[in-house]
This record gives sequence, structure tokens and C-alpha cells, in this order.
Amino acid sequence: MCGIVGYIGKRKAYPILIKGLHRLEYRGYDSAGVALINEQGQLNVYKAKGKVSELETFCESKDTGGTIGIAHTRWATHGEPNTVNAHPHYSESERLAIIHNGIIENYAVLKAGLMEQGYTFKSDTDTEVLVQLVEYTQVNQHVDLKTAVQLALQQVIGAYAIAILDKTHPDTLIAARKGSPLVVGIGEDEYFLASDATPIVEYTDKVIYIEDEEVVSLRLGEKVDITTINNVTKTPEIKRLELSLSQLEKGGYPHFMLKEIFEQPRTLTDSMRGRVNVRQDNIALSGFIDNKDRFLNAKRIIITACGTSWHAGLIAMYAIEEFAQIPVEVEYSSEFRYRKPVINKDDVVIAISQSGETADTLAAIQLAKEKGAFIFSICNVVGASIPRVSDSGCYTHVGPEIGVASTKAFTAQVTALTMLALCIGREKKTISKEQYLRIVRELGQIPDKIERVLGQNKRISDFAKTFTYAQNFIYLGRGYNFPVAMEGALKLKEISYIHAEGYPAAEMKHGPIALISQEMPVVVVAPHCGTYEKVVSNIQEIKARKGRVIAVVTEGDELVSKIADYCIEVPATEECLTPLLTVIPLQLLAYHIAVVKGCDVDQPRNLAKSVTVE
Ligand code: AGP
Repeated sequence: MCGIVGYIGKRKAYPILIKGLHRLEYRGYDSAGVALINEQGQLNVYKAKGKVSELETFCESKDTGGTIGIAHTRWATHGEPNTVNAHPHYSESERLAIIHNGIIENYAVLKAGLMEQGYTFKSDTDTEVLVQLVEYTQVNQHVDLKTAVQLALQQVIGAYAIAILDKTHPDTLIAARKGSPLVVGIGEDEYFLASDATPIVEYTDKVIYIEDEEVVSLRLGEKVDITTINNVTKTPEIKRLELSLSQLEKGGYPHFMLKEIFEQPRTLTDSMRGRVNVRQDNIALSGFIDNKDRFLNAKRIIITACGTSWHAGLIAMYAIEEFAQIPVEVEYSSEFRYRKPVINKDDVVIAISQSGETADTLAAIQLAKEKGAFIFSICNVVGASIPRVSDSGCYTHVGPEIGVASTKAFTAQVTALTMLALCIGREKKTISKEQYLRIVRELGQIPDKIERVLGQNKRISDFAKTFTYAQNFIYLGRGYNFPVAMEGALKLKEISYIHAEGYPAAEMKHGPIALISQEMPVVVVAPHCGTYEKVVSNIQEIKARKGRVIAVVTEGDELVSKIADYCIEVPATEECLTPLLTVIPLQLLAYHIAVVKGCDVDQPRNLAKSVTVE
């Protein structure tokens, strides 16, 4: 998730663009860049690795003149975060410059075609392919920039929000979007362009939200021109901004955590983009494809992680053992790195880390690597330390996760690990084609099903208020949902400061049932799956001792709904995919209890987003 900004008007563009990038830094900041057309018609592109402030320092000695420009703060998806891969990208002739937020799935095919035409590339990015395609189209079909953009985008598969400049037309700024957001701001003799309204709100409250497959042309003295990529003219719909700057950064949500909970349908779609092909009934993970033998010959898979990522690893254990029939051990990184573990050369070690910088997990894989194991990482930050040490991996592509309590990264980790388990199982033929196809098709339905669960947010908020008295909670689940119970407990602990434990439901009888009382709410994850009847018995044991039960059940449940105090329904799905749905109510429950308690939801006390020290 990158941030893009554009300006064309009567003022110096550079200060407006830089300020706009600062407003968008919450979207990612591993590198940044700006492109300006100055008074002499020169197209100047300046880029720097790191935060926007690094770019500002770099530009202090540069010509930053010009009243038209575009700027970009990057969250790397293709290519390491460095200056070469930073945006904007020149076309080969350096006549065009482009910035892009999104992922072009068919960039490799497009790049190969352009290379056959003699085009060369400086970066590893999909974005540079796009600007070369636009230039190639313009030159070979003798069309203007807008038409070239329309024609080029007709060949693109994936998501984009782009802005592009042509130094031979310094009076025109062209932009387009599909799948990534883009807003136009309308000022007095000036236009603004951005990923969202945060860079625009201080200049104007008149905005146009660009729709998918629309191309917008901004020219001074002319009205905003909008067409589709097939050149069908559209009537711009001007809206008035009502949100404050702070609210805008959070997408109108009160906290980043709630925004990120509600982003999950989209972030899972992004995470599966180019990997789960429901039409072709197939999953393609390049990290697996390139290293098949390591997985197929593995005698054991060791998963090492911390916190929420460790819970994702527990779920992966169930999936990998069920579908790939490879023994899995799930380790806390901090324990694994010091207990002198036995690690063999034919072991595969999977590191799971949202930040890619957790010190214990990094140390754990460095230890495993020294002993010859194959290291595969599931990470959300391109170019972070853990992916750099790994032999291969799979990025989750959910964009920056700002809330300290992990939500969208967790569901993306579980999705990536489930895809991996299915890929291995398919290759080893330890999963039937029928079951594989059924799960692949169901994966494609998960974002919409999460959307349906999110629809219960208000109801969960209402009954969460009745539990703020509690000093202790216990969370129960079985099978794939035992780790979900642990994750739900962690969410509550870390943002509401209420003590909570996650437990295998059957373990209640081995001690914890002594704790049951009306003062300790019990959350039970009880979707329809293999051990459902047993979980129902566990709930009855709790109710017999006057325990209060909040149950997460499958839509239409007729048993638990009669005995639990509160029920939250989730759509039916494959058992291995139930965690992607059952975790959502637990995220919302923790969030709303913490909010009622007046806790700092996005930055809970004593915590950090990434634990880069032991
Ligand atoms: C989860 O909500 C916490 N923020 C924490 O447990 C986190 O999952 C853990 O520190 C691991 O972080 P990582 O995924 O970045 O390695």
C-alpha cells in the first residue's frame, strides 16, 4: 500500500507534494520520490531510500522548481526497498515519469514483450514496466498520453492507482485507478491528486473519487476530464469532504486497529491476488514452486514465531499435517533459539513475522540456517531483515499494519500458510483433487464471508459493554480453532489489559474449570466442524457451573444458540478456513471492550509494534 500525490496549478508544486507525502506516510515509507517539470521543461526525478524526510534532505541541493509534479511514498511489493526501485520511474527516453500504488500481476509477460522490442529496465519493479508500455504505445500508435494510458491499461491485469507526466506536455497530469484508491481535489485554478483525501483536505473540500478503470486528465483552465480505459466519457461527481485530517488518515475510523479489522476483506483479496486462481482451480506460490524439492523431501517442518504470528503457526501445523502429512513443530522463537534444538539439513524452517524484524525470530532462523536447514519466511515487509536472511518466502501484501495489535496481518499469514499446505499436499498427492478444488474455491469466497461477519460489528459493540467489569476471561476452542482461542485471548489482553487465557476446550476438565464463575466470561469458538458436539458438551459443563458464555457459531446453529448467553454467527466454510472467520468477532470483541475501558487501542501501554530487542 503506497501513497501517491500529484499537483498541477499556479503554485510551486514541490512543497505541496512533500507535505502530501508526509500525510500519507502511514501508508508506507520504505522509500520516496518526486518528479517535477520545471519552467525550462526539464523533467526532474529525485528519489531516496527511507522516510520522506530522507527525500527532503536529498532535494535540498536540487532544482525543485515547477508548478506540476507527482510524488510517491513506497511500500515495496516488487523489488527491494532501495533508490533504484523507488518511484517515480522514468520511461526509457526519460520523457515520461510514473508513480504507482498496486500490483501488476502480468508484469513479467508485459516486460518480456517490451524487452523483445529492445526496451531495457533499470529496476525490478512492475511499475517501470507500465511506464515503458505507455511510452511504447504512444510512440508506436502515434497517440497522445491519455490514449496511450488507456490502451496500456487495457493490457494490465492487477491493481493500480497511477499518475504520469509527459515533459512535452507540462500542462497535463494523467491518472488512473483500478483496485487502489485515487482522489482528485479541485482548487482555485489548481488540481490535487492523492491516494486519499489527507494531502488534499487543507487546500479544498471539493473532491472527486475516481472509480475503477477510469482515467482522469487534469489540465489547467479546463474541467476535470474522466473517461474509462475504453474511452467512454464519464461525468465527474464532485463531493464535499466532511472528515478531519486525523479521521482521514484512519479512513474515517476512530482507530487504525478498527480500520485494519475492516480492511481484511480487501487485504485478503490482495494477499491472494495472483496466487489463488479460482477460475483455473489453482494456487501458485512462487516461493514454493521454486523450492518444491525442499518441501517434498522435508522430514519435518519447524515453524518459529512470536505472539500472534505464533498462533498463525499453530493453525499452519493443523493444515500442513492434514494436507501435506509432514510432521510440524511450532516453536516460540525465544525458546527455540536457546534450547539447543536438534536441526537437520533436510528440515524446513518457516519463520512467520509481520514486521520481519522480531529479534528472537531473526535469531532463530539464523541458528537454523547455520545448521543447514531451508528457511522460508512469511512476512509483510518487503526487504525486512527476516526475508533477507531467508532462502525464500511469501509476502502477505496487506500494507502497513499500524495498530500494535495485529489483525489483518494475522488473517493474511493464515491464508498464506494454508495456501502453502495445499500446494505441498497437491504436489505430494496427499490431498485429493476434489478436496483441493473445494478448498481453493472456498478460499475465493472468504473475503465476502468476512464482510458478512463485519456486519455484526454494532451488535458486538453493544454486548461488549456488559463485559468491561471482568478481570479475567477464558477463551476455548478445538482443532483449528484452539489457536484462534489463544489469538482472541491475546487481542483482549494486549489492548484492554484484562487477563485472558486461551485453552483447548477439552482441557477445561484438567484444572481451569475450577475457575468458572459468573465473574469470568468464557468465550467459546464453536463452529460446525469435526469436534462440534464435544465443544457443545464443554459449554454445557460451563453453564452447569453458572459460567457466562459468549460463543462464536456457524450461521443457523441451533444447539449452542440455546445454551450460550451470547452468540456471534459466522458463515459456514471449510474447517481449515474457519479461523479466517471465527477470529473476526474476537478482534472486534477485544477492540470494543478496550474502547469502552478508555484504553489506547492503537498504542497499548508497554507494547511496541515490532520487538526488535530480546
Ligand atoms: C500481536 O497483536 C502483537 N502485536 C505481537 O504478539 C506480535 O504478533 C509479535 O510481537 C510478533 O511480531 P511479528 O509478527 O512482527 O514478528
